[in-house]
Amino acid sequence: MNATMIRGPSKSAVFIYVVAALAGLMFGLDVGVIAGANQFIQASFHISDRVLEWIVSSVMLGAAVAAALAGWFSARLGRRRALIASAVLFVLGALLSAFAWSPISLIAARLVLGLAVGAAAFTAPLYLAEVAPENRRGAIISMYQLMITIGILLAFLSDLALTPTGSWRWMLGVIAIPGALFLLGVLTLPESPRWLMLRGRVEQAREVLHRLRDSEETVNREIGDIAEQLRQPQRGWHLFLQNRNFRRSVGLGVLLQVIQQLTGINVMIYYAPRIFEHVGFAINAAMWSTVSVGVVNVLATFIAIGLVDRIGRKPILYAGFVVMALSLGLVGLMIHLGVVTFTQQIFTVVMLLTFITGFAMSAGPLVWTLCSEIQPLKGRDFGIGVSTVTNWLVNWGVGLTFLSLLNGIGTAQTFWLYGAFNLFFIVLIVWLVPETRGVTLEKIESNLMAGKPLRQIGL
Ligand code: BGC
Repeated sequence: MNATMIRGPSKSAVFIYVVAALAGLMFGLDVGVIAGANQFIQASFHISDRVLEWIVSSVMLGAAVAAALAGWFSARLGRRRALIASAVLFVLGALLSAFAWSPISLIAARLVLGLAVGAAAFTAPLYLAEVAPENRRGAIISMYQLMITIGILLAFLSDLALTPTGSWRWMLGVIAIPGALFLLGVLTLPESPRWLMLRGRVEQAREVLHRLRDSEETVNREIGDIAEQLRQPQRGWHLFLQNRNFRRSVGLGVLLQVIQQLTGINVMIYYAPRIFEHVGFAINAAMWSTVSVGVVNVLATFIAIGLVDRIGRKPILYAGFVVMALSLGLVGLMIHLGVVTFTQQIFTVVMLLTFITGFAMSAGPLVWTLCSEIQPLKGRDFGIGVSTVTNWLVNWGVGLTFLSLLNGIGTAQTFWLYGAFNLFFIVLIVWLVPETRGVTLEKIESNLMAGKPLRQIGL
């Protein structure tokens, strides 16, 4: 056969997407798994809510650190090595958690796990965007988001299955198994062609593209495109210091991630069983309700995927934030009045699930989408890096304060506080967030750089 003839989308291409999407699954598994383990950890170490908050949130702190370093690591050593490092840390962190002998050692183990999550969460989408053909890029990145929510659901299911054993060690340790599979998978991945080109290894980049694309012509065109792109060096930090317009887009990315986290979503993801017990559920019912949170989180993500390119980002965000503000307000009201009867319990649970729906159909996927759309090419890595680190830092703060808020200002008040945040965010969205549906990234960039108000850079 002629060396220039290449067969259709090869098995290896599909395999690569599967493995890289598994990174999303690992992410979800690792952030979700703690929910069901909390009360057993607290009982076995006899620790206060304050220490438990640290155990819960240390993953996010580790992830913030890794997200800050991952850009450098994946640029210097390559995307593949960054993914391998994260896979090794996934396995190590899960095993260390399972064998933790004290609260401090558990916090340390979860910091390691956080490094894995942060590195994978940064590198996998980058790798996917670099190996995916351009006409499939959107779908493939959404698939990654979906995998995160599926990972969270699987973690909740595994917690449910292990609840009768009462063993948090099994709950936390069992995710070493998908971690090991992920490691085996990433060991077989090729390096990203874009990174190889960045290192001047054009022939190797060509070989990898031959495995991924269906014609010699496509390979040649992509090699040309990448070379062209690389002529635009990433000068994020310089640009940030010199250019006010870039500072505005970086600021908007930061704001969007602060908004996403202060919706309060992770209060549910990390502490759902505790919240359900608070409204009077026994442990089993609380664990089943937690699983329903996971299911709704997955299903509502499809609403966003289906609507985002049809009706636009802002209408979906408005709908989502109104739903979140109202449902949290009502949860607070129910708790304030006292959740006693079965009907009251069911209503409260339905409101909590409505809140999850509001998030998963809007802020969940859309904030990530917007953050990658608003940065100018020259500063894209820097801008996305800064907003991602913000996501983890605020995420950490939410995990670290929820139980203290419950104990300090009260349960109803805590839900009202988050409800009020969501209401206020509607104003910020109207005022500052652009509509980017159907607009090219070049157009967004030229509007931004021309000094247009942020809410108009998509016009
Ligand atoms: C958020 C995470 C959250 C997840 C829930 C993501 O978009 O960034 O913090 O745990 O959604 O599905």
